[in-house]
Amino acid sequence: MSGFRNTFLVTGTDTGVGKTWVSTGLLRAWVGAGLRVAARKPAETGCESVGGRLQPADAAALAAAAGGGETLEAVCPYRFAEPLAPAVAAVRAGVRIDLDAVVDACRVRAREVDRLLVEGAGGLLVPLTGRATFADLARSLDAHLVVVIAARLGAINHAMLTLEAARARGLEVVALVVNHVSAETDLATSTLAETLADLGVAPRIVSVPHGIPPDAALAGLARDLAKT
Ligand SMILES: Nc1ncnc2c1ncn2[C@@H]1O[C@H](COP(=O)(O)OP(=O)(O)OP(=O)(O)O)[C@@H](O)[C@H]1O
Ligand SMILES: [Mg+2]
Repeated sequence: MSGFRNTFLVTGTDTGVGKTWVSTGLLRAWVGAGLRVAARKPAETGCESVGGRLQPADAAALAAAAGGGETLEAVCPYRFAEPLAPAVAAVRAGVRIDLDAVVDACRVRAREVDRLLVEGAGGLLVPLTGRATFADLARSLDAHLVVVIAARLGAINHAMLTLEAARARGLEVVALVVNHVSAETDLATSTLAETLADLGVAPRIVSVPHGIPPDAALAGLARDLAKT
């Protein structure tokens, strides 16, 4: 073992909230700080088929942000065409996702780098295999959680539900990222980060603006998490 917990699961309050966007920013910030990093997207669904091969777009973006050098098969061992939860897509494709193999591969890679970032699919309780969710994966990896929240009306509830589910499973949420996934702003989006801060629900709350690379907004968080 590396002697410290160096694995981060980036989860979110929903699908499409900006997990990949935020993950690439964190990875680039760590690379910029001279850390050795790697990324994993254990299962990606909704993959496009190019030349008869399923292309995992998230995994490709993560791999590039981590500096390249790894095959997409290593970064993303399970790829499915149908845009469904991984466990559901796997059953429909007649594939068995081997959770132990996923955990072992992540652990091996984590020992070789300073930081391993693992992106989930959808939210924390999405099933990865028949019984196991991404929360179970996080537990098996002893991963810190980074929770990405899309800034929109309704997000406080989604954030609190995710935090409660994490706590109930003994998972440590090290940061909330309020991601301005939409260019539209309103009172709900502009007050969200401060509201979550006032609620005192997580040790770090960071806002990511819309439309500009997230590296700068995440540089402080990346530095902070590098000390975790
Ligand atoms: N802050 C932002 N500014 C501009 N565009 C953004 C921002 N955050 C996310 N996006 C865009 O919104 C879309 C959804 O983001 P992203 O793919 O990162 O979500 P996700 O949570 O990783 O989704 P999935 O559940 O499919 O993995 C993408 O097209 C992404 O480029
Ligand atoms: Mg993604």
